[in-house]
Amino acid sequence: MCGIIGYVGAKSANDILIAGLERLEYRGYDSAGIAVTHDNLISINKSEGRVHNLKTKKLDGTRGIGHTRWATHGSPSDRNAHPFTCNENKFVVVHNGIIENYLELRSGLIHAGISCTSDTDSEVIVHLISQAYNGNLKDAVCKVIKHLQGSYALCVMHKDTHELIGARNGSPLLIGLGNEENFLASDASAIIDHTKDVIYMNDFQVAEISKDYVKVFDFDGIEQQHEIKKIDWNLEQAQKGGYTHFMLKEIFEQPAVAQESLNVNFILAKDFSRIIIVACGTASYAGLVGKYVLEKVAKIPVVNEIASEFRYKECLISERDLVIAISQSGETADTLAAVRLAHQKGARTLGLINVVDSTIAREVDSVVYTRAGPEIGVASTKAFISQLITLYKLAFHFTDNEMNHSIVDKIAETLQLSDSIRKLAEQYYECQNFLYIGRNLSFPLALEGALKLKEISYIHAEAYPAGELKHGPIALVCTEMPTIAICPQDTVYEKTYSNIEEVKARKGRVITIATEGDERIKNVSNNVIYVPKVNNILYPFVIAVVLQLFAYHVADLRDCDVDKPRNLAKSVTVE
Ligand code: AGP
Ligand code: GLU
Repeated sequence: MCGIIGYVGAKSANDILIAGLERLEYRGYDSAGIAVTHDNLISINKSEGRVHNLKTKKLDGTRGIGHTRWATHGSPSDRNAHPFTCNENKFVVVHNGIIENYLELRSGLIHAGISCTSDTDSEVIVHLISQAYNGNLKDAVCKVIKHLQGSYALCVMHKDTHELIGARNGSPLLIGLGNEENFLASDASAIIDHTKDVIYMNDFQVAEISKDYVKVFDFDGIEQQHEIKKIDWNLEQAQKGGYTHFMLKEIFEQPAVAQESLNVNFILAKDFSRIIIVACGTASYAGLVGKYVLEKVAKIPVVNEIASEFRYKECLISERDLVIAISQSGETADTLAAVRLAHQKGARTLGLINVVDSTIAREVDSVVYTRAGPEIGVASTKAFISQLITLYKLAFHFTDNEMNHSIVDKIAETLQLSDSIRKLAEQYYECQNFLYIGRNLSFPLALEGALKLKEISYIHAEAYPAGELKHGPIALVCTEMPTIAICPQDTVYEKTYSNIEEVKARKGRVITIATEGDERIKNVSNNVIYVPKVNNILYPFVIAVVLQLFAYHVADLRDCDVDKPRNLAKSVTVE
């Protein structure tokens, strides 16, 4: 998810655009660029890297658009930096989102004798607008967006006219209302120094703004009423979209992230005999879920390796193995080393990576980007969900099936539990120890839930396969050490139910995560958090959301630095 901005008024667009993009850099900073019109000419200043690189030049003009990029298609580079102009330099566009059918659109352009200069999906938009233009820019944009599949927020300009056009479908865009000046922006943080009056655009809307007027249309070009909202956020709140922490914002972004990840298409031959998954931390727990799913759905044997262990053990892999490296940052030193070791042993490698063109993404034989967008919170949440989606898609891909998209709504439904989970956290946030238990697919979730709690609340938490309790850990059970029991109505429900009874029999307090409608579970629980009923194999998605929210609210109640926990870094690039 990148940041886009537009300005039209009487002031220097250059300074307003650059300052606004600096506010939007938390959304991505692979490259940055602005385009400003003056005397019917479009001037562009863009380059790889941070927004401050744009300060070496100053463009004249009072109308312009800008972009700070989080790359999804095409490496971070000067040539792939937005804005993009058509070949006659009449139109210019910036785009936030993903154009799923860009290859098809690009080949149509080539057929019409129009070639692209970048590797991005976005560039096709400006050429299509140039083709469709017939004197009215808004009408041209309305025509073109009907051919776009995917997500987008756009700002569009023509060199000779006076307006800006904005369009929104799946990526955020708002209109800022000033005094003889108006704005377009991905979020309020870019413009709150200029105005607090905004119109939040909805999907399937097009805006036409000049310095004197603002109009909003539907995709058929029919004008629509719009509601003006007053934002009362400060800058930091605006960047967090009104959430208290980036982590909470990113937890709530998960339905959109899951949808983006579900849209990823990949082609992968099943010409290997075994999969080895290497990763660290949360990514390794996603990999453990992946093991269960790949073995159950695709009947492929999977071995999970913690990357820091894998690289120093007797590494029995061969060219018949596919090594899958999972990494949000794509820079984790241990995972990178594991990839290099796999190559030395002749194995092929596949990366499930979030950051485009990161080191691991560039070193693996093939890469599938998980499309979670920039994850600011050190504790991984939406990246975890995107890793799960990608692993499930991989498993279904090998059986020539597709993953059901209904999980997006179930994730959204589970997010509604946040307030009730907070109330529960108020009963437990002062505990010093927690036990997390689960069986089968719920065991990796127990590991992830315990890690989330540890890393942001600094409470000691251990996770065990529920069946392991009797082999020692149950000695820990006491009233002061609550147990989070993950017990959906799946194939191992009865077994986990018995394990919970063992805990209760030793005066342990139990918070159970259970399937909505399961009344029986109340008999062995102090508290129950009900998740929506889903297909057994999909419970990890809704359970993950509950565990993230529980950890978040406990940590927040303990006044911990949720987004930047002590001792941690977002990307562990050292051994
Ligand atoms: C997860 O909340 C932690 N921040 C950490 O375990 C993280 O998952 C791990 O360091 C792996 O990072 P990566 O996905 O960027 O490789
Ligand atoms: N898909 C576009 C690109 O890769 C825009 C990415 C974004 O929204 O940051 O340039």
